[in-house]
Amino acid sequence: MKKVDDFRLKFGHKEYVPIMIGGMGVDISTSSLALEAARLGGIGHISDAMIKTVSDRRYDTSFVKQKAQLYKHTADSPNKAEVQFNLGHVEEATRLHVSKTMEAKRGDGLVFVNCMEKLTMNAPKETLAVRLRAALDAGIDGITLAAGLHLGSFSLIENHARFRDAKLGIIVSSLRALQLFLKKSMRSNRLPDYVVVEGPLAGGHLGFGMDWAKYDLATIVREIRQWMKGEHIDIPLVPAGGIFTGSDAAAFLEEGAGAVQVATRFTVTEECGLPDAVKQEYFKASEDDIEVNQISPTGYPMRMLKNSPAIGDGIRPNCESYGYLLDANGNCSYITSYNREVAAHPDAKRVQVFDKTCLCTQMRNFKCWTCGHLTYRLKDTTKKLTDGLYRLLSAEHVFKDYQFSTGGKIALPA
Ligand SMILES: Cc1cc2nc3c(=O)[nH]c(=O)nc-3n(C[C@H](O)[C@H](O)[C@H](O)COP(=O)(O)O)c2cc1C
Repeated sequence: MKKVDDFRLKFGHKEYVPIMIGGMGVDISTSSLALEAARLGGIGHISDAMIKTVSDRRYDTSFVKQKAQLYKHTADSPNKAEVQFNLGHVEEATRLHVSKTMEAKRGDGLVFVNCMEKLTMNAPKETLAVRLRAALDAGIDGITLAAGLHLGSFSLIENHARFRDAKLGIIVSSLRALQLFLKKSMRSNRLPDYVVVEGPLAGGHLGFGMDWAKYDLATIVREIRQWMKGEHIDIPLVPAGGIFTGSDAAAFLEEGAGAVQVATRFTVTEECGLPDAVKQEYFKASEDDIEVNQISPTGYPMRMLKNSPAIGDGIRPNCESYGYLLDANGNCSYITSYNREVAAHPDAKRVQVFDKTCLCTQMRNFKCWTCGHLTYRLKDTTKKLTDGLYRLLSAEHVFKDYQFSTGGKIALPA
């Protein structure tokens, strides 16, 4: 019976333990979590989602306050076209987060950054260019292009000195999305170094419609592998979504995957950025407590715990401070929903908004509890303590469980 440790992910002549911990914004996949994966010989992700907030919290900057003060006069306006990001600040915050993480890196593994295209930031192209270039400048080992088709992303960095040396990957959920990306990226004369194939059981936003349950990760991976073989394209495929045990992972590796990307099992580790009380909510969840809904203003379905405080919470939009989901014209669908409810309930002190959520503020405050489909199995990965709480795990414990376990077994903490 094969285990994950019988395989290696190869990039050129270098070999890695074929376990990637996926990016989880906002600062759920912390530096500490990513650094553990790298120390143990695998690959970890930090995320650049809401990077200025992350920088303020971790590195004592004050980017958010500065932006909020600059634009406070637009607070009552439904359109936020004026609320532009200061690109110098985005660059500085990205550099800080990436360089501090890379300086702390130990071991033979790698640290990548997850960059979501759907963070359109009121100027999609300009802000994405700064994010990608700053991460490369600050020495990131690789970039995973996420939440979007990224058809123009390679061209934003093709003249960067590190364009060919950094590892660049893309997340897709269908063969069609990969074909579109490859067609465009060919123009930069560079293939991605890896392709994460994310299935419908993943956490965060899904690359599927509300009919996500009709799809199956293994089938999509097989279809992509066969097509690539026919085209003589050799890029490591990295399946993601619902890979819960070392045996689940080994099965994909035996079928030819280069590595696996996993996240949910790491949401209940000490290194994960969620508050401890929220980690207990993840442990406690049953299958019925998890839903895929459409409250994200990005337009993508998102999976989360049904008791997430974000659901229905009609807070005032706070684009002056954040504004990461403003489209190129300064609009966000939450602003529309919020204003509709305020107009319908003029005397209410606080309205409720159920169709959309203010994702920036809610994610920033860890109130939107996004999670993978198999979160309800987390309680089986640990022990219950005498006070009724579940014992948090170390990232090393979970990583090694993926690496060495066989027979569908999950090692409980000592
Ligand atoms: C809490 C949480 C947050 C996530 N946030 C992001 C994100 O910001 N960007 C992204 O590309 N994927 C995100 N994901 C998806 C993961 O990176 C990963 O691909 C997926 O969850 C793997 O499936 P698993 O959770 O079943 O192991 C998130 C997943 C979780 C559980």
